[in-house]
Amino acid sequence: MPRGYLVNFDTRQLPQEEWEYVILGSGIAGLYTAWAASQAGAKVVVLTKHTVLESNTEKAQGGIAAALDSTDSPSLHRQDTLSAGAGLCDEEAVDILVHEGPRRVKELIALGARFDALNGELLLGREGAHSRRRILHAAGDATGAEIQRVLTEHAGRNPGIEVRENHFAVDLLVHENTCHGALVYDLDEERLKVFWGRVIVLATGGLGQLYEQNTNPGVATGDGVAMAYRAGAEVMDLEFIQFHPTVLSLPGAPRFLISEAVRGEGGILRNCRGERFMPRYHELAELAPRDVVVRAILNELAETNSKEVFLDVSHLDPEKIQRRFPTITRTCRELGLEIGKDPLPVTPAAHYAMGGVKTNLNGETSIDGLYACGEVACQGVHGANRLASNSLLDGLVFGKRIVEHARRWRPPRKRREFACDCLSAPLLFDYRELRLAIKSVMNKSAGPVRTGGGLQEALAFFEKWSHLFKHAAADWEEMEVRNMCEVGRLITHAALLRTESRGGHYRADYPAPDEKWQKHIIFRR
Ligand code: SIN
Repeated sequence: MPRGYLVNFDTRQLPQEEWEYVILGSGIAGLYTAWAASQAGAKVVVLTKHTVLESNTEKAQGGIAAALDSTDSPSLHRQDTLSAGAGLCDEEAVDILVHEGPRRVKELIALGARFDALNGELLLGREGAHSRRRILHAAGDATGAEIQRVLTEHAGRNPGIEVRENHFAVDLLVHENTCHGALVYDLDEERLKVFWGRVIVLATGGLGQLYEQNTNPGVATGDGVAMAYRAGAEVMDLEFIQFHPTVLSLPGAPRFLISEAVRGEGGILRNCRGERFMPRYHELAELAPRDVVVRAILNELAETNSKEVFLDVSHLDPEKIQRRFPTITRTCRELGLEIGKDPLPVTPAAHYAMGGVKTNLNGETSIDGLYACGEVACQGVHGANRLASNSLLDGLVFGKRIVEHARRWRPPRKRREFACDCLSAPLLFDYRELRLAIKSVMNKSAGPVRTGGGLQEALAFFEKWSHLFKHAAADWEEMEVRNMCEVGRLITHAALLRTESRGGHYRADYPAPDEKWQKHIIFRR
């Protein structure tokens, strides 16, 4: 893309494509919505920033929760989801999730997803804050990869769906509160293009890359939230970030998730003195809600003046553990650790955003024709803290509802030329350095333990840079950093406003929940 002083770019000068559905993102939410739309006869394009396989879905280990066992029920699943959500779940959204979820999972099985089973019975795992074994998994700990395989294969052979890789969505094209399409940068051809659609679906995933320590793939930079906010959509609950307690922590090695399912199978957390500490913090011990486990770990690190706690499975049958967690076993081995023998050094890391682009129960955002599902969306199903393994389910359930609702949506006939100002003067600083600075600020000030002072400083940092970014972004990487900056500002602002602690938002200066905060923070530009 040219770098220069160009403003007011007219979309009529760009290559144009016309589709019925334009879906941004290729994780479970994007690909499943594409499949459901194609079943309804729609022509769908799925645009993905890099490769189709680069998503949080692909990396998901633990699994997908659904009340499928005879000892389980949607109402028990509902109860666990509401308790984890710490008073902020939308109960109707939760009802929909737990009741429609099992049907969607069976659909996925019918599409070819092979979940682990024995003698025809699904093998169900357990994770934190679940009162029952209800987590379906595939190839032990490669559940997301299996789901991604099935949906990618379907998209590949479905004449109704075209997947375009290396297409970075720059901005949404919104006129009089109706979304007509997206301005997209084609990384291969190095030029901007316009994708018009009757229905535009944001399924761009999460924002973990705003943090130094995170479990997400490189693409998870909050682009969907930033784009929607810039376009005038409402965003909600952004202060609630879930940190995963057990991410492998080895100097120089990538942060690799050690699934909560390992604790579900009996794994124990020990401090540097070898003491098991979780029973001192919560009756569910290692299976307490994630925010509780994270703060317990941080407390142990401070009290023992050390940098590490350890996940220990040496008391469990090594063969069983290796069979159940082949990916974790292999990765640990490659990094020089023998699971079952060596204690695994672990640390908390940013994992999932409960907030996002506000939608109703049909996935509609506050902009007509613009829908959102998956991690980028916030219909309130996760409240202040997501129950483990509810996110893949959420992508399926609300993706399907979008397609059912969007059948009836017809945009008003309006001229659709847009003047964009996405290109302007190249910035005079190194945005790669800015990316690193954002991650460090977020880790320090908007991490698992926050204070008013730290958040003030972080907000001042983001306001300074957001101002510089007002019109700028002269290549796609710069646009990505611009998005990170915008989303960082929104998260820190919401976290500063919420003077209480609840779920994935903990303020050391307001350590208790406060009833007057039993409400959502919604921003609109
Ligand atoms: C895990 O396997 O621990 C992650 C599952 C999730 O975040 O839902």
